[in-house]
Amino acid sequence: MDTLDALYADSLANLQETESMASLEVWYRDNLGRKGSVQLETRKVGQLPPAERPLFGQQINKIKQQLSAAYEERLAALKAAELRAQLAADAVDVTLPGRRQWRGRLHPSTLVLREIYRIWGDMGFQVYRSRDVETDEYNFELLNIPAHHPARDMWDTFYTTTPGVLLRTHTSPGQIHAMREYHPQAIRVILPGMCYRYEQITARAEIQFHQVEGLAVGRKISLADLKGTLAEFARRMFGQETGMRFRANYFPFTEPSAELDIECFICQGEGCAVCKQTGWLEILGSGMVHPTVLENGGYDPARYSGFAFGMGVERIAMLKYGIDDIRYFWANDLRFLEQF
Ligand code: PHE
Repeated sequence: MDTLDALYADSLANLQETESMASLEVWYRDNLGRKGSVQLETRKVGQLPPAERPLFGQQINKIKQQLSAAYEERLAALKAAELRAQLAADAVDVTLPGRRQWRGRLHPSTLVLREIYRIWGDMGFQVYRSRDVETDEYNFELLNIPAHHPARDMWDTFYTTTPGVLLRTHTSPGQIHAMREYHPQAIRVILPGMCYRYEQITARAEIQFHQVEGLAVGRKISLADLKGTLAEFARRMFGQETGMRFRANYFPFTEPSAELDIECFICQGEGCAVCKQTGWLEILGSGMVHPTVLENGGYDPARYSGFAFGMGVERIAMLKYGIDDIRYFWANDLRFLEQF
């Protein structure tokens, strides 16, 4: 019994000395574990004379219970101490200056696209999307550009390995998709999207860029509507005082065709590097939808007419923000992107 008392006193003293969860675990293993000192004492019961066994057994059970209770208490105390230490170490110093939040921002093309959507949306034009991968038929044939027609030189094309399938060189094939879906109803849509051209990449030319096409088809649409609508767009986009001119041009899918120039807003028409000393900036191509194209879209050209236009989004962004190299757009250089 004395041995038991000594064992108890010893164990308890050792327990009070544990200072970490790790040393507490070692204590548990050495004292209450399967091969621990208390367990070893228990085995001795069998060697005692039968008369002494009950008392010894009782005593050892008592010691086990008391040590277990003491262990639980120590465990709780150590856990609490650990938490306090952690809280002290992790304390937030509210007097430190805040870390600036890293915020993403919109790409300049997206900014200009949204501005264009807004203006055309205000004028009643809905967004109509069509595919990037097109057929020769939609990109050229149905737009009045037959195979071998010299006008094909206007668009350097990426062809795929599948005959007759290519990456659209302009958003104009969307005109045919929209007309075939909506005929014989009137149409007022803009058709935004990425276009692809097999070009030498330079400061002025990229192999991919956005266009926004526009199409209006109805019973009484005239060249005056085209001029008035596009002039209104230019005023809303570039300012009410913007000077502009329509310049005759040629596109196979419009007749007559015109390009819209606005007065250079860098030099106010005086002549500078951006407008190449002309005082004018070309912002879009347009025209009255060619009768053949109307017919290909399912409209009777004797009863329906329409106008269409197409503008380069990056081109407009370059003018608007004074960007002198189109290669910045897809270079993913944060020094560029963070400026917008
Ligand atoms: N698709 C022409 C281009 O890529 C632009 C255009 C669209 C011109 C619609 C007239 C009418 O250059």
